[in-house]
Amino acid sequence: MSNKKFKIIITDCDHPSVEIEKKILSEINPELTLETCKTEEDVIAVASDADGIINQYAPITRRVIESLKRCKVIARYGVGVDNIDVEAATEHKIIVANVPDYCVDEVSTHTIALILDCARGITLLDRKIRDKKWDFTLAKPLFRTKGKTLGLFGLGRIAKMVAQKASGFGIKIIAYDPYVSKVNIGVKLVELSQLLTDSDFVSIHVPLTAETKHSFGENELKAMKKTAYLVNTSRGPVINEKDLYIALKEKWIAGAALDVMEKEPPDWKDPLLKLENIIITPHISFYSEESYVELKTKVAESVRSVLKGELPRAMVNPQVIKRKFNKEDR
Ligand SMILES: NC(=O)c1ccc[n+]([C@@H]2O[C@H](COP(=O)([O-])OP(=O)(O)OC[C@H]3O[C@@H](n4cnc5c(N)ncnc54)[C@H](O)[C@@H]3O)[C@@H](O)[C@H]2O)c1
Repeated sequence: MSNKKFKIIITDCDHPSVEIEKKILSEINPELTLETCKTEEDVIAVASDADGIINQYAPITRRVIESLKRCKVIARYGVGVDNIDVEAATEHKIIVANVPDYCVDEVSTHTIALILDCARGITLLDRKIRDKKWDFTLAKPLFRTKGKTLGLFGLGRIAKMVAQKASGFGIKIIAYDPYVSKVNIGVKLVELSQLLTDSDFVSIHVPLTAETKHSFGENELKAMKKTAYLVNTSRGPVINEKDLYIALKEKWIAGAALDVMEKEPPDWKDPLLKLENIIITPHISFYSEESYVELKTKVAESVRSVLKGELPRAMVNPQVIKRKFNKEDR
Protein backbone atom coordinates (compact mmCIF):
# COMPACT_ATOMS: atom_id res chain seq x y z
CA MET A 1 0.00 0.00 0.00
CA SER A 2 1.29 3.46 -0.85
CA ASN A 3 2.12 5.92 1.97
CA LYS A 4 0.15 8.76 0.46
CA LYS A 5 -2.98 9.80 2.26
CA PHE A 6 -6.09 8.50 0.56
CA LYS A 7 -8.82 10.98 -0.13
CA ILE A 8 -12.29 9.60 0.55
CA ILE A 9 -15.43 11.62 -0.12
CA ILE A 10 -18.82 10.80 1.32
CA THR A 11 -20.96 12.55 -1.29
CA ASP A 12 -24.07 12.62 0.88
CA CYS A 13 -25.46 10.82 3.88
CA ASP A 14 -28.60 11.37 5.93
CA HIS A 15 -27.36 9.36 8.91
CA PRO A 16 -26.86 11.28 12.14
CA SER A 17 -23.09 10.67 12.19
CA VAL A 18 -20.27 9.04 10.24
CA GLU A 19 -18.25 7.99 13.30
CA ILE A 20 -18.50 4.29 12.40
CA GLU A 21 -17.02 4.96 8.95
CA LYS A 22 -14.27 7.14 10.43
CA LYS A 23 -13.30 4.45 12.93
CA ILE A 24 -13.11 1.67 10.32
CA LEU A 25 -11.28 3.78 7.76
CA SER A 26 -8.80 5.14 10.32
CA GLU A 27 -6.68 2.04 9.63
CA ILE A 28 -5.70 3.55 6.25
CA ASN A 29 -5.46 7.09 7.69
CA PRO A 30 -7.49 8.81 4.97
CA GLU A 31 -8.52 12.38 4.47
CA LEU A 32 -12.28 11.79 4.88
CA THR A 33 -14.82 14.47 4.02
CA LEU A 34 -18.58 14.42 4.41
CA GLU A 35 -20.32 16.47 1.71
CA THR A 36 -23.96 17.30 0.98
CA CYS A 37 -24.03 16.73 -2.77
CA LYS A 38 -27.39 16.67 -4.50
CA THR A 39 -26.54 17.07 -8.20
CA GLU A 40 -23.89 15.71 -10.54
CA GLU A 41 -22.22 19.15 -10.55
CA ASP A 42 -21.96 18.97 -6.74
CA VAL A 43 -20.24 15.60 -6.94
CA ILE A 44 -17.89 16.69 -9.74
CA ALA A 45 -16.90 19.75 -7.68
CA VAL A 46 -15.76 17.72 -4.66
CA ALA A 47 -14.80 14.26 -5.86
CA SER A 48 -12.59 14.63 -8.93
CA ASP A 49 -9.37 13.74 -7.03
CA ALA A 50 -10.93 11.23 -4.61
CA ASP A 51 -9.47 7.73 -4.28
CA GLY A 52 -12.72 6.42 -2.92
CA ILE A 53 -16.31 7.60 -2.90
CA ILE A 54 -19.06 6.66 -0.47
CA ASN A 55 -22.48 7.57 -1.76
CA GLN A 56 -26.11 7.52 -0.71
CA TYR A 57 -28.47 9.32 -3.11
CA ALA A 58 -26.35 11.81 -5.11
CA PRO A 59 -26.27 10.90 -8.82
CA ILE A 60 -23.04 9.25 -9.93
CA THR A 61 -23.61 9.66 -13.65
CA ARG A 62 -21.31 8.98 -16.59
CA ARG A 63 -20.30 12.68 -16.49
CA VAL A 64 -19.33 12.34 -12.84
CA ILE A 65 -17.39 9.15 -13.49
CA GLU A 66 -15.56 10.69 -16.45
CA SER A 67 -14.45 13.54 -14.14
CA LEU A 68 -12.84 11.18 -11.59
CA LYS A 69 -9.08 11.16 -11.99
CA ARG A 70 -8.00 8.37 -9.63
CA CYS A 71 -11.04 6.83 -8.05
CA LYS A 72 -10.79 3.08 -7.36
CA VAL A 73 -14.06 2.45 -5.61
CA ILE A 74 -17.56 3.84 -5.32
CA ALA A 75 -19.38 2.25 -2.40
CA ARG A 76 -23.11 2.78 -2.03
CA TYR A 77 -24.95 2.85 1.27
CA GLY A 78 -27.53 0.27 0.20
CA VAL A 79 -28.46 -2.62 -2.02
CA GLY A 80 -29.72 -0.83 -5.14
CA VAL A 81 -27.17 1.05 -7.27
CA ASP A 82 -29.62 2.66 -9.68
CA ASN A 83 -28.19 6.13 -8.98
CA ILE A 84 -24.75 5.00 -10.20
CA ASP A 85 -23.84 4.50 -13.86
CA VAL A 86 -22.30 1.07 -13.31
CA GLU A 87 -21.45 0.61 -16.99
CA ALA A 88 -19.43 3.83 -17.01
CA ALA A 89 -17.70 2.86 -13.75
CA THR A 90 -16.78 -0.53 -15.20
CA GLU A 91 -15.36 1.11 -18.33
CA HIS A 92 -13.20 3.27 -16.05
CA LYS A 93 -12.13 0.24 -13.96
CA ILE A 94 -13.82 1.59 -10.86
CA ILE A 95 -15.27 -1.00 -8.49
CA VAL A 96 -18.88 -0.35 -7.51
CA ALA A 97 -19.44 -1.90 -4.09
CA ASN A 98 -22.83 -2.29 -2.45
CA VAL A 99 -24.17 -3.91 0.69
CA PRO A 100 -26.59 -6.58 -0.49
CA ASP A 101 -27.36 -8.17 2.85
CA TYR A 102 -27.66 -5.56 5.60
CA CYS A 103 -31.45 -5.30 5.70
CA VAL A 104 -32.94 -8.50 4.32
CA ASP A 105 -34.68 -9.11 7.65
CA GLU A 106 -36.02 -5.53 7.86
CA VAL A 107 -37.34 -5.32 4.26
CA SER A 108 -38.92 -8.77 4.40
CA THR A 109 -40.62 -7.95 7.71
CA HIS A 110 -41.82 -4.59 6.35
CA THR A 111 -43.25 -6.41 3.32
CA ILE A 112 -45.10 -8.85 5.56
CA ALA A 113 -46.34 -5.92 7.67
CA LEU A 114 -47.74 -4.21 4.56
CA ILE A 115 -49.36 -7.43 3.34
CA LEU A 116 -51.00 -7.99 6.73
CA ASP A 117 -52.05 -4.33 6.95
CA CYS A 118 -53.85 -4.72 3.59
CA ALA A 119 -55.34 -8.04 4.65
CA ARG A 120 -56.71 -6.70 7.94
CA GLY A 121 -57.52 -3.10 6.97
CA ILE A 122 -55.42 -1.73 9.84
CA THR A 123 -54.31 1.62 8.43
CA LEU A 124 -57.71 2.23 6.85
CA LEU A 125 -59.56 1.59 10.12
CA ASP A 126 -57.04 3.61 12.13
CA ARG A 127 -57.67 6.58 9.79
CA LYS A 128 -61.43 6.12 10.35
CA ILE A 129 -61.08 6.07 14.14
CA ARG A 130 -59.18 9.35 14.04
CA ASP A 131 -62.21 10.59 12.10
CA LYS A 132 -64.39 9.43 15.06
CA LYS A 133 -65.74 6.38 13.18
CA TRP A 134 -65.76 3.16 15.25
CA ASP A 135 -67.04 0.81 12.55
CA PHE A 136 -65.24 -2.32 11.38
CA THR A 137 -67.56 -2.69 8.38
CA LEU A 138 -65.77 0.25 6.75
CA ALA A 139 -62.95 -2.19 5.91
CA LYS A 140 -65.24 -4.73 4.22
CA PRO A 141 -64.61 -7.00 2.41
CA LEU A 142 -61.62 -8.59 4.14
CA PHE A 143 -60.61 -12.18 3.50
CA ARG A 144 -58.86 -14.93 5.47
CA THR A 145 -55.11 -14.99 4.68
CA LYS A 146 -54.67 -18.77 5.20
CA GLY A 147 -54.75 -20.49 1.83
CA LYS A 148 -54.37 -17.26 -0.16
CA THR A 149 -51.60 -16.84 -2.74
CA LEU A 150 -48.66 -14.47 -2.59
CA GLY A 151 -46.91 -13.80 -5.90
CA LEU A 152 -43.31 -12.61 -5.66
CA PHE A 153 -42.05 -10.57 -8.62
CA GLY A 154 -38.32 -11.29 -8.37
CA LEU A 155 -36.97 -14.11 -6.19
CA GLY A 156 -33.72 -12.84 -4.70
CA ARG A 157 -32.59 -12.52 -1.09
CA ILE A 158 -35.45 -10.40 0.18
CA ALA A 159 -38.21 -12.26 -1.66
CA LYS A 160 -36.94 -15.60 -0.34
CA MET A 161 -37.13 -14.33 3.23
CA VAL A 162 -40.62 -12.92 2.56
CA ALA A 163 -41.57 -16.41 1.35
CA GLN A 164 -40.19 -18.00 4.49
CA LYS A 165 -42.05 -15.58 6.76
CA ALA A 166 -45.32 -15.65 4.76
CA SER A 167 -45.45 -19.44 4.77
CA GLY A 168 -45.93 -19.25 8.55
CA PHE A 169 -49.35 -17.70 7.83
CA GLY A 170 -50.39 -20.61 5.63
CA ILE A 171 -50.04 -18.50 2.49
CA LYS A 172 -49.16 -20.30 -0.78
CA ILE A 173 -46.20 -18.75 -2.55
CA ILE A 174 -45.51 -18.47 -6.25
CA ALA A 175 -42.80 -16.41 -7.94
CA TYR A 176 -41.78 -15.04 -11.31
CA ASP A 177 -38.05 -14.53 -11.89
CA PRO A 178 -36.62 -15.21 -15.35
CA TYR A 179 -33.11 -15.46 -13.88
CA VAL A 180 -33.95 -18.21 -11.39
CA SER A 181 -34.42 -21.74 -12.72
CA LYS A 182 -35.02 -23.75 -9.58
CA VAL A 183 -35.99 -23.19 -5.96
CA ASN A 184 -36.16 -25.48 -2.97
CA ILE A 185 -37.94 -23.32 -0.41
CA GLY A 186 -41.57 -24.24 -1.07
CA VAL A 187 -42.01 -21.60 -3.77
CA LYS A 188 -43.45 -22.50 -7.18
CA LEU A 189 -41.93 -20.68 -10.15
CA VAL A 190 -44.58 -19.50 -12.64
CA GLU A 191 -44.88 -17.30 -15.71
CA LEU A 192 -45.67 -13.64 -15.13
CA SER A 193 -49.19 -14.05 -16.56
CA GLN A 194 -49.98 -16.73 -13.97
CA LEU A 195 -48.44 -14.68 -11.17
CA LEU A 196 -50.77 -11.82 -12.05
CA THR A 197 -53.96 -13.86 -12.41
CA ASP A 198 -53.46 -16.22 -9.44
CA SER A 199 -52.10 -13.95 -6.71
CA ASP A 200 -54.10 -12.36 -3.90
CA PHE A 201 -51.02 -10.32 -3.04
CA VAL A 202 -48.31 -9.40 -5.54
CA SER A 203 -45.08 -8.23 -3.93
CA ILE A 204 -42.28 -6.61 -5.94
CA HIS A 205 -38.63 -7.49 -5.18
CA VAL A 206 -36.61 -6.65 -8.30
CA PRO A 207 -33.83 -4.12 -8.76
CA LEU A 208 -34.68 -1.03 -10.79
CA THR A 209 -33.19 -1.53 -14.26
CA ALA A 210 -34.13 -0.48 -17.78
CA GLU A 211 -35.88 -3.85 -18.02
CA THR A 212 -37.86 -3.61 -14.76
CA LYS A 213 -38.89 0.07 -15.05
CA HIS A 214 -42.71 0.29 -15.31
CA SER A 215 -43.05 -3.50 -15.15
CA PHE A 216 -46.43 -2.82 -13.54
CA GLY A 217 -48.64 -0.70 -15.78
CA GLU A 218 -52.15 -0.86 -17.19
CA ASN A 219 -51.87 -4.39 -18.66
CA GLU A 220 -50.43 -5.99 -15.54
CA LEU A 221 -52.81 -4.16 -13.18
CA LYS A 222 -55.81 -5.15 -15.31
CA ALA A 223 -54.64 -8.78 -15.30
CA MET A 224 -54.62 -8.93 -11.47
CA LYS A 225 -57.61 -10.08 -9.40
CA LYS A 226 -60.03 -7.33 -8.40
CA THR A 227 -59.54 -8.45 -4.78
CA ALA A 228 -55.73 -8.40 -4.99
CA TYR A 229 -53.24 -6.03 -3.40
CA LEU A 230 -49.96 -4.80 -4.91
CA VAL A 231 -47.06 -4.31 -2.50
CA ASN A 232 -43.79 -2.61 -3.44
CA THR A 233 -40.75 -2.40 -1.17
CA SER A 234 -38.18 -2.40 -4.02
CA ARG A 235 -38.01 0.77 -6.14
CA GLY A 236 -40.84 3.17 -7.03
CA PRO A 237 -40.35 3.33 -10.82
CA VAL A 238 -40.98 -0.42 -11.17
CA ILE A 239 -44.65 0.66 -11.03
CA ASN A 240 -46.15 3.17 -13.44
CA GLU A 241 -47.86 5.33 -10.81
CA LYS A 242 -50.17 7.07 -13.26
CA ASP A 243 -51.60 3.67 -14.19
CA LEU A 244 -51.67 2.61 -10.53
CA TYR A 245 -53.74 5.69 -9.68
CA ILE A 246 -56.37 4.74 -12.27
CA ALA A 247 -56.27 1.09 -11.17
CA LEU A 248 -56.95 2.06 -7.55
CA LYS A 249 -59.53 4.72 -8.37
CA GLU A 250 -61.44 2.45 -10.75
CA LYS A 251 -60.94 -0.57 -8.44
CA TRP A 252 -59.16 -2.81 -10.97
CA ILE A 253 -57.40 -4.07 -7.81
CA ALA A 254 -58.37 -3.79 -4.13
CA GLY A 255 -55.41 -1.75 -2.98
CA ALA A 256 -51.71 -1.08 -2.86
CA ALA A 257 -49.03 -0.66 -0.22
CA LEU A 258 -45.87 1.19 -1.20
CA ASP A 259 -42.66 1.84 0.66
CA VAL A 260 -41.14 3.43 -2.43
CA MET A 261 -42.45 5.93 -4.95
CA GLU A 262 -41.50 7.17 -8.41
CA LYS A 263 -40.59 10.51 -6.84
CA GLU A 264 -39.30 10.64 -3.26
CA PRO A 265 -40.51 12.58 -1.41
CA PRO A 266 -43.61 12.71 -3.60
CA ASP A 267 -45.26 15.78 -4.97
CA TRP A 268 -47.65 16.56 -2.09
CA LYS A 269 -50.41 17.31 -4.59
CA ASP A 270 -50.08 13.82 -6.12
CA PRO A 271 -53.67 12.47 -6.25
CA LEU A 272 -52.37 9.00 -5.33
CA LEU A 273 -51.86 10.29 -1.79
CA LYS A 274 -55.56 11.10 -1.45
CA LEU A 275 -56.84 7.60 -2.20
CA GLU A 276 -58.27 5.47 0.62
CA ASN A 277 -57.08 2.14 -0.78
CA ILE A 278 -53.36 2.87 -0.57
CA ILE A 279 -50.85 2.71 2.26
CA ILE A 280 -47.54 4.53 1.87
CA THR A 281 -44.43 4.49 4.06
CA PRO A 282 -41.44 6.79 3.40
CA HIS A 283 -38.83 4.35 2.04
CA ILE A 284 -38.17 2.94 5.48
CA SER A 285 -38.07 -0.82 4.84
CA PHE A 286 -34.29 -0.96 5.14
CA TYR A 287 -34.19 0.71 8.52
CA SER A 288 -33.60 -0.61 12.02
CA GLU A 289 -30.97 0.53 14.52
CA GLU A 290 -29.11 -2.71 13.85
CA SER A 291 -29.24 -2.47 10.04
CA TYR A 292 -27.87 1.08 10.13
CA VAL A 293 -24.77 -0.03 12.01
CA GLU A 294 -24.29 -3.02 9.69
CA LEU A 295 -24.68 -0.84 6.58
CA LYS A 296 -22.19 1.79 7.68
CA THR A 297 -19.69 -0.81 8.86
CA LYS A 298 -19.86 -2.83 5.64
CA VAL A 299 -19.61 0.24 3.35
CA ALA A 300 -16.51 1.49 5.16
CA GLU A 301 -14.95 -1.98 5.18
CA SER A 302 -15.45 -2.26 1.41
CA VAL A 303 -13.71 1.04 0.72
CA ARG A 304 -10.89 0.14 3.13
CA SER A 305 -10.42 -3.22 1.40
CA VAL A 306 -10.19 -1.78 -2.12
CA LEU A 307 -7.78 0.96 -1.08
CA LYS A 308 -5.62 -1.68 0.63
CA GLY A 309 -5.50 -3.58 -2.67
CA GLU A 310 -8.05 -6.21 -1.69
CA LEU A 311 -11.49 -7.02 -3.01
CA PRO A 312 -14.56 -5.57 -1.31
CA ARG A 313 -16.98 -7.95 0.39
CA ALA A 314 -19.59 -7.31 -2.34
CA MET A 315 -19.45 -5.61 -5.72
CA VAL A 316 -21.87 -5.24 -8.61
CA ASN A 317 -19.31 -5.11 -11.43
CA PRO A 318 -16.90 -8.05 -10.97
CA GLN A 319 -15.93 -7.57 -14.64
CA VAL A 320 -13.59 -4.85 -13.35
CA ILE A 321 -11.39 -7.49 -11.77
CA LYS A 322 -11.26 -9.48 -14.97
CA ARG A 323 -10.43 -6.32 -16.89
CA LYS A 324 -7.08 -5.12 -15.48
CA PHE A 325 -7.51 -4.84 -11.77
CA ASN A 326 -4.06 -5.25 -10.24
CA LYS A 327 -1.87 -3.39 -7.81
CA GLU A 328 0.24 -1.61 -10.43
CA ASP A 329 -2.96 -0.26 -11.81
CA ARG A 330 -3.63 1.63 -8.61
N1 LIG B 1 -37.21 -0.14 0.39
C1 LIG B 1 -35.99 -0.35 0.88
O1 LIG B 1 -35.62 0.21 1.90
C2 LIG B 1 -35.09 -1.35 0.19
C3 LIG B 1 -34.03 -1.91 0.92
C4 LIG B 1 -33.23 -2.86 0.31
C5 LIG B 1 -33.44 -3.22 -1.01
N2 LIG B 1 -34.46 -2.62 -1.69
C6 LIG B 1 -34.70 -2.99 -3.10
O2 LIG B 1 -35.08 -4.35 -3.16
C7 LIG B 1 -34.49 -4.91 -4.34
C8 LIG B 1 -34.38 -6.42 -4.16
O3 LIG B 1 -33.41 -6.69 -3.15
P1 LIG B 1 -32.76 -8.15 -3.01
O4 LIG B 1 -31.76 -8.05 -1.93
O5 LIG B 1 -33.80 -9.19 -2.92
O6 LIG B 1 -32.01 -8.26 -4.42
P2 LIG B 1 -31.48 -9.56 -5.16
O7 LIG B 1 -30.50 -9.09 -6.16
O8 LIG B 1 -31.09 -10.61 -4.18
O9 LIG B 1 -32.78 -10.08 -5.94
C9 LIG B 1 -33.36 -9.43 -7.04
C10 LIG B 1 -34.03 -10.50 -7.89
O10 LIG B 1 -34.73 -9.83 -8.95
C11 LIG B 1 -34.63 -10.69 -10.08
N3 LIG B 1 -34.93 -9.96 -11.30
C12 LIG B 1 -34.14 -9.10 -12.01
N4 LIG B 1 -34.78 -8.65 -13.09
C13 LIG B 1 -36.02 -9.22 -13.07
C14 LIG B 1 -37.15 -9.14 -13.93
N5 LIG B 1 -37.13 -8.38 -15.03
N6 LIG B 1 -38.26 -9.84 -13.60
C15 LIG B 1 -38.29 -10.62 -12.50
N7 LIG B 1 -37.23 -10.77 -11.66
C16 LIG B 1 -36.12 -10.07 -11.95
C17 LIG B 1 -33.20 -11.21 -10.03
O11 LIG B 1 -33.06 -12.39 -10.80
C18 LIG B 1 -33.03 -11.46 -8.54
O12 LIG B 1 -33.35 -12.80 -8.20
C19 LIG B 1 -33.14 -4.18 -4.46
O13 LIG B 1 -32.68 -4.16 -5.79
C20 LIG B 1 -33.44 -2.79 -3.96
O14 LIG B 1 -33.75 -1.93 -5.03
C21 LIG B 1 -35.27 -1.70 -1.13
